[in-house]
Formats: sequence, structure tokens, C-alpha cells
Amino acid sequence: MIKIAPSILSADFAALGDAIARVEAAGADLLHVDVMDGHFVPNLTIGPPVIESLRKRARLPLDVHLMIEEPERWVETYVRAGADLLTVHAEACPHLQRCLSQIREAGARAGVALSPGTPPGILDYVLDDLDLVLVMSVNPGFGGQAFIPSSYAKIRQVRTLTGRRAVELSVDGGVKPEHAARLAGAGASVLVAGSAIFGAADPGQAVRELRSAAEVVKLA
Ligand code: DX5
Ligand code: ZN
Repeated sequence: MIKIAPSILSADFAALGDAIARVEAAGADLLHVDVMDGHFVPNLTIGPPVIESLRKRARLPLDVHLMIEEPERWVETYVRAGADLLTVHAEACPHLQRCLSQIREAGARAGVALSPGTPPGILDYVLDDLDLVLVMSVNPGFGGQAFIPSSYAKIRQVRTLTGRRAVELSVDGGVKPEHAARLAGAGASVLVAGSAIFGAADPGQAVRELRSAAEVVKLA
């Protein structure tokens, strides 16, 4: 069963509680939270205090996507703030294996995100240290960008690498219902969507549409 992870980046930041309630009622599986530092990516979003508030409000696990430099300095802070899954960018981590161990030791599940230009081979020697791979299907930094089609092939490659391990394979960026079946067919297990959900008139309905579109598995 595919998991749906609404990204609150496209929600109204003054009404995050309402946004969460709507997608939870519609059966979303995770809440995707984008943290940007204005350095690793050219945009700035939220930090630990907002995550703490989200944690109090949300019933769903928090899937925190760190788009920040030197994420190893912040791991314990984000886990303490309430991240259930904490994902760091491979491009931001010179000592990736150490950073992943640090996340697990802090008590969260560990994820690695790959920007579109980063080859999957970077995961070869950390496959037993991670719980999730996040394949970015846009360049990180902004919601509402167009899905990059080479992501399908990359997802298949990552799925081959993870083999029989219980690793979630998440895809993030420009995901719309029209991509969902092919993404699921390629091996994705989590679909992250921001504008497709919070840009819709009825975000709850958008969650259900994305899920039913993913359930029609097509060959990638
Ligand atoms: C982009 C973020 C995404 C973004 C997705 O850097 O990581 O999670 O919110 O938004 P859409 O679905 O609009 O591309
Ligand atoms: Zn994200």
C-alpha cells in the first residue's frame, strides 16, 4: 500500500492546524515538513519551534526533510522537537554514515535525500544504516515546480539497490495524480505532494485522488 505524505510547505502557514486536520481526516499517512536554511537551498522555512507545535497538533508521524547545511549539528534538536523520520541530503553530509547513525541513536528513523543530479550509487555503503530514501524529483528549495521525468529511472535503480531491506522509497517534487501509478510501479512507497494537495480546493479530496491514482500500478 502506497503512503501519502502531504507537504505542508504549500499550506497556509497561518492555518497549519486546519491543514493538518484536513489531511489527517482524509487518511494521509505521514506529514512531510520541509526545513530550509537559505544556504543549502535558496529559501528559508521553519525550524524546531514550529516542529514542536506541529508535534502537539498532529497525530501522524512527522517526516522531516532537512534541506540544510551541516545537518549533523541539528539532529538531536529536530528529534527532540518531534521528528519521527529525519531525512538529510547526501550532498550536505560528508560523513553520511555517521550522520545516519546519529539519527537512529537519537531515536528517529533515518532518511537520505538525493537531489536530481546525485547518482544513487552514493547509497551503496549506507544501505543498512537507513530507513528511507527520498528521491527528489525537482531541485530542492521550492514547492510547485515541474516533475523531472528521469526520476522514474532513478527510483527503479534505488529500489534495486535496497533489495529486500525494509526501506521506504519516497518521491518528492512536482508529484501529481498523473505520475502516481508509474511511480508506484517503479518502486516508490511514499508519495510526497505539496501543491497537488494544498493547492487544491479540497485538500482531503486531493489526498484520496492521489492514493487511488497510485493504486493502478503501471510498468515504469
Ligand atoms: C521541495 C520540497 C517539497 C515540496 C513539494 O524542495 O522538498 O517537499 O514541498 O512540493 P510540490 O509537491 O508542490 O512540488
Ligand atoms: Zn520535501
